[in-house]
Amino acid sequence: MDFQLTEEQIAVRDAARDFAQNVLKPGVIERDTHMKFPHEEIKQLGELGFLGMMVDPKYGGSGMDTVSYVLAMEEISKVDASTSVVMSVNNSLVCWGLEKFGTEEQKQKYLKPLASGEIIGAFCLSEPEAGSDATSQRTTAIDKGDHYLLNGTKNWITNGGNASVYLVMAQTDAEKGHRGINCLIVEKGMDGFVVGAKEDKLGIRASDTHTLLFNDVKVPKENRIGEDGFGFKFAMKTLSGGRIGIAAQALGIASGAYELSLAYSKERKAFGKEISKHQAIAFKLADMATEIEAARLLCLKAATQKDNGENFDQSSAMAKVFASETAMKTTVEAVQIHGGYGYVKEYHVERLMRDAKITQIYEGTSEVQRIVISRNVLKD
Ligand code: CAA
Ligand code: FAD
Repeated sequence: MDFQLTEEQIAVRDAARDFAQNVLKPGVIERDTHMKFPHEEIKQLGELGFLGMMVDPKYGGSGMDTVSYVLAMEEISKVDASTSVVMSVNNSLVCWGLEKFGTEEQKQKYLKPLASGEIIGAFCLSEPEAGSDATSQRTTAIDKGDHYLLNGTKNWITNGGNASVYLVMAQTDAEKGHRGINCLIVEKGMDGFVVGAKEDKLGIRASDTHTLLFNDVKVPKENRIGEDGFGFKFAMKTLSGGRIGIAAQALGIASGAYELSLAYSKERKAFGKEISKHQAIAFKLADMATEIEAARLLCLKAATQKDNGENFDQSSAMAKVFASETAMKTTVEAVQIHGGYGYVKEYHVERLMRDAKITQIYEGTSEVQRIVISRNVLKD
């Protein structure tokens, strides 16, 4: 596989880097401390074309490839993983699914404003009793002829409070198991739809995560994505692509922590020399650099397979599990390299360590990625 970047891909990466360093960095500590959603920053990301990166320009997107998306996600996540998760959910869980499986009417009505960044979306699969075990959906969508009657609770929903459009998985025919699940497009403001409590989290604190409650919400039939019973497959296919975004987020968190550690280790002196000249520190940097490079190649491989129209279920799971574990390990070591300074907010690495943890949990835990990978490697 050729990972030589094109001029266009380099330009996208550089634009994302400039935005992260100049726009996101100045307020990142304050937004994290006070759980302040990055409203203005997300608006600017939309103007840059980063909220519908892979969507066809005729639907308001930027028409870029998945490799460019990975490069942009890495740069944004080096600085602000709260902002990058908003970007990841909107691009790969909401816009991608709508463009790939939505009707022309759904694309005109919902995809256009989502891809141009006018509004943002949310993807609602998880429930209090159905996280990893995603086929056990309790939320119901009863077929009432021209509409579905939606009842139930979703939790942990990223963009829950700030989204305008929600893709909601719900069980229509329990006898059919996962083949009876549908995905419905729900609009904020529909009668009976309530945005519940906002979570107070360890990391990605500026991103909003909410419980959502549906009480006899009437959702028109034309808001169903795909054929009757396609909802679970829709969720799985969409998540395969989403995992590339989260892998790139984890890669960015790791490389952000590494870059800060490299610079700090050349400045900080102990026992008469820079700490980078102590082999214990130099070897940590060597391990970080090696694992980050491997994570980057896995992300680029998954993205390239997706761009080439090949199956990427296994490679996206591999990229996510490896990059997220690299992010956790690298950020813990980054705090160690910074010593006491690493433990305070001003030096950024403690936030990156807190942010890294979620990449091992959402869009399928590390254990779920190993289920996906092991089923693939064992099936032949
Ligand atoms: N593409 C298409 N279809 C797929 C598929 C894929 N990648 N993966 C599974 N399926 C299909 C299967 O073929 C099967 O259909 P048939 O029976 O018709 O063949 C059906 O889905 C059920 O598959 P399994 O039998 O493999 O299901 P399972 O119960 O064993 O679960 C699982 C498999 C991989 C663990 C899955 O439940 C899973 O991915 N769980 C994790 C859920 C998750 O990732 N949630 C993330 C929520 S979003 C989020 O987190 C966003 C955020 O934070 C920002
Ligand atoms: P559980 O499924 O209960 O898992 C608990 C533990 O058991 C985990 O370690 C898990 O790996 C392990 N486990 C479970 N089953 C197995 C098995 N078969 N083999 C081995 N180990 C297993 N969901 C959405 O739908 N949309 C969102 O936008 C969204 N955003 C999120 C944002 C945040 C900040 C958080 C915390 C979560 C978000 N989620 C979202 C939910 C997330 O996807 C789930 O938390 C995740 O899938 C795990 O589900 P769970 O929390 O129910 O854990």
